[in-house]
Amino acid sequence: MDQQSFAGDYGIIDTLDSVTKATLAAMSETPDARLREVMDSLVRHLHAFVMEVRPTEQEFEQGLGFLNAIGQATHAKHNEAVLFSDVMGVSTLVTMINNGEGGPLEPASALLGPFWRLNHPITEHGASIVRCDTPGPALFARVRVVDTSGAPVAGAEVDVWHASSVGMYDVQDENQVEWNLRGKFITDADGRFHFRSIKPIGYPIPCHGPAGALVNAQRRKPQRPAHIHFLAHKPGFKTLISQVFVADDEDINRDVTFGVTRHLIGDYRAETGPAPDADVTGTWFSLDHVLVLAPGESVLPKPPID
Ligand code: BEZ
Ligand code: FE
Repeated sequence: MDQQSFAGDYGIIDTLDSVTKATLAAMSETPDARLREVMDSLVRHLHAFVMEVRPTEQEFEQGLGFLNAIGQATHAKHNEAVLFSDVMGVSTLVTMINNGEGGPLEPASALLGPFWRLNHPITEHGASIVRCDTPGPALFARVRVVDTSGAPVAGAEVDVWHASSVGMYDVQDENQVEWNLRGKFITDADGRFHFRSIKPIGYPIPCHGPAGALVNAQRRKPQRPAHIHFLAHKPGFKTLISQVFVADDEDINRDVTFGVTRHLIGDYRAETGPAPDADVTGTWFSLDHVLVLAPGESVLPKPPID
């Protein structure tokens, strides 16, 4: 019969310091090396945080209640844990550590956010992703996907998604049909695709849960500057998760999720000449953008919502 072996004794607790030492010792024989490393660091930082803050018992209860509330606010169409990590700057840190050569270069990657979904509907080049009545100035976007040498990447799958003119994604808004302002495009032999939509506007993040309560308590504007999300995927390349921001958005310098790097500011241009579609009159917008795929593993993220 298999006998499970347990980590050794770590002693009787007598001082504050001995709690940390005992906790580290108790975890020190974790067979999984990465789990051992991560938990050792977490315990050292968490205990140092507690020693610095010296929470009252009521504050401790409040903190645990906050963690519970993150789980309770999460359901198939809403991911509060992602939102919390975003407003704490952690999602952007993790993105920068894992892209752009580990931080020194401004990455073309951005946080995924809580609204990416699997299985965006495959959409013809040139088609509109406006799938129900959604006011806003017409936008015609032309995107090219290349590798790090500038060569076109054909056959890449690129998901596109953005919020509506009332600042909500399809899953948040019963007045939009499912998949409104979303599409999946397959790049042609020259790495290109193009589509029609509306120019995005900035929007407030969902504030009904604990992450929003925290942002409000900190007197922060809960706003994201206008952007379109892209997720480009092809075997042999590291999956690129990106956002393309509108430069003149009044909140470009205070994204509540710290997601704006210079590299991610797009070239949205007001145009007055004839639009690609004859039904568009007056000013419309163009966007020309290049997505660069680095070699690597083409792993898809776990969708934050269904
Ligand atoms: C988004 O861009 O979709 C997003 C990111 C973080 C929080 C809320 C929304
Ligand atoms: Fe967004």
